[in-house]
Amino acid sequence: MSTEQEQVLELVKRREKARIGGGQKRIDAQHAKGKLTARERIALLLDEGSFEEFDMFVEHRCTNFGMEKETYSGDGVVTGCGTIDGRLVYLYSQDFTVYGGSLSETMSLKICKMMDQAMKMGAPIIGINDSGGARIQEGVNALAGYAEIFQRNILASGVVPQISAIFGPCAGGAVYSPALTDFIVMKKDSSYMFLTGPKVVKTVTGEDVTQEQLGGASVHTTKSGVAQFAVPTEEEGLSLIRKLISYIPQNNMEEAPLVACTDPIERQEVSLDTIIPESPNKPYDMYEVVKAIVDNGEYLDVQGAFAPNIITAFARFNGMSVGIVANQPKYLAGVLDINASRKAARFVRFCDAFNIPLVTLVDVPGFLPGTAQEYGAVILHGAKLLYAYGEATVPKITVTLRKSYGGAYCVMSSKHLRGDLNYAWPSAEIAVMGAQGAIEVLYGKEIAAAENPQEVANQKATEYVDKFANPYNAAKYGYIDDVILPKNTRFRIIRALQQLSTKKLVNPAKKHDNLPL
Ligand code: HXC
Repeated sequence: MSTEQEQVLELVKRREKARIGGGQKRIDAQHAKGKLTARERIALLLDEGSFEEFDMFVEHRCTNFGMEKETYSGDGVVTGCGTIDGRLVYLYSQDFTVYGGSLSETMSLKICKMMDQAMKMGAPIIGINDSGGARIQEGVNALAGYAEIFQRNILASGVVPQISAIFGPCAGGAVYSPALTDFIVMKKDSSYMFLTGPKVVKTVTGEDVTQEQLGGASVHTTKSGVAQFAVPTEEEGLSLIRKLISYIPQNNMEEAPLVACTDPIERQEVSLDTIIPESPNKPYDMYEVVKAIVDNGEYLDVQGAFAPNIITAFARFNGMSVGIVANQPKYLAGVLDINASRKAARFVRFCDAFNIPLVTLVDVPGFLPGTAQEYGAVILHGAKLLYAYGEATVPKITVTLRKSYGGAYCVMSSKHLRGDLNYAWPSAEIAVMGAQGAIEVLYGKEIAAAENPQEVANQKATEYVDKFANPYNAAKYGYIDDVILPKNTRFRIIRALQQLSTKKLVNPAKKHDNLPL
């Protein structure tokens, strides 16, 4: 055998060793749990044949507890770059078959290298997490490795999109890297995120709780709001990430890709002319409005199961990516509360950071009253959404469909928060509050003292409705730029986006803001 042949064989042998990770037995165990391997996940995520691996021969350097006798090529994480629909992304995929995917000093170096590359190239970074946390044998070096990743997450925030998939355990401080990223996708039933596991919880608080109850996908996508998406299978999770990437730009200096649009831009949607019920207290489904106006009725719902009283979604108008924020009258009458404010604020800030125009559909009765909300700091959380809209410099188009009352009027991308084009349907009602509450405050005593209170109340309510239950009072002051027919909403939004495509607006220079946390 020639030296050249020997060299090739040596390389092939070393690559094979790296590709088998912790060995066939552990791969079988991974499959038996219904989980894919780190490499199988990458193959599903990237365009076929596009994966370029880095650092496949890296090994850990730990000598504690006889660790030097057990090394694996690649050291528990597969890292590299590839393309999604032809666009460059960097990624890392933790390999549970090697020390349970636990994070070593060298694993951290590999991950950090990808994050640095992503920043230099201006490309998204995707992390697939499946790990037992800090590699116990490495002590502080593993902790240091986490902190190095966190620091990069922080610096990359708002510069390149960061996406995390959680396809296994993610516990302890390890959760903070995904938490610092823009989107978290969790696999239902076999992934979990928590700071302290069920045993510690039992010791400290006495609570009996399973891993799933403590930090499963349903907890984080319905109760805590930590994760944006819960998926039934890893395959669906990876295809969701591909879809998500299609709506967003490579970095904060670029715009999202423009997609060829097959849906006529002037398509009228007559169903919208009758979607608002006669009674102001009757709900309707805002998703129907979203579907009716966006390209081909397609959208990607973000955090759909969390705070369903507000919708946040990516969609396209004439092939242009937008972020939609819409009150949902079907849940809690579309009221703004703590969770809805947190959810929408984060979404608005993501869109603004990455040059994605905002389309806001308003039907909001105000903020939710009560001690639970006040003690939970609804003032601060509501202010987050207010802040997010007010600081956003991307094109902002607002359509008021029905109610827009009180503080919520100001918050929901109003003219005063630099809304660029504020439209209203003829059914819009813009006021400090609804008729019932208003006449109670203004005429409560008069009504109580009247001979026929009901008649007086009705008369006052009619006066109030005549004055405020229409868009023209706000339009009179220029707070609404135009009153549009519901069926023309799609066309008007598209034309607005075209008009605003050259928008330039810069906020005052500052070190950073101090938004209410
Ligand atoms: C080293 C680890 C490990 C770890 C798992 N392994 N976690 N090795 N450090 N943290 C190894 C196991 O020894 C085992 O090796 C293999 O990975 C698979 O683990 P199993 O326990 O057999 O798998 P499973 O039954 O599926 O249980 C998975 C698990 C459990 C729930 C993750 O392994 C576990 O509880 N691990 C410890 C989790 C933990 O407390 N981590 C520290 C969190 S605190 P073999 O050789 O048998 O295959 C933290 C701080 C971060 O991370 C701070 C950042 C600031």
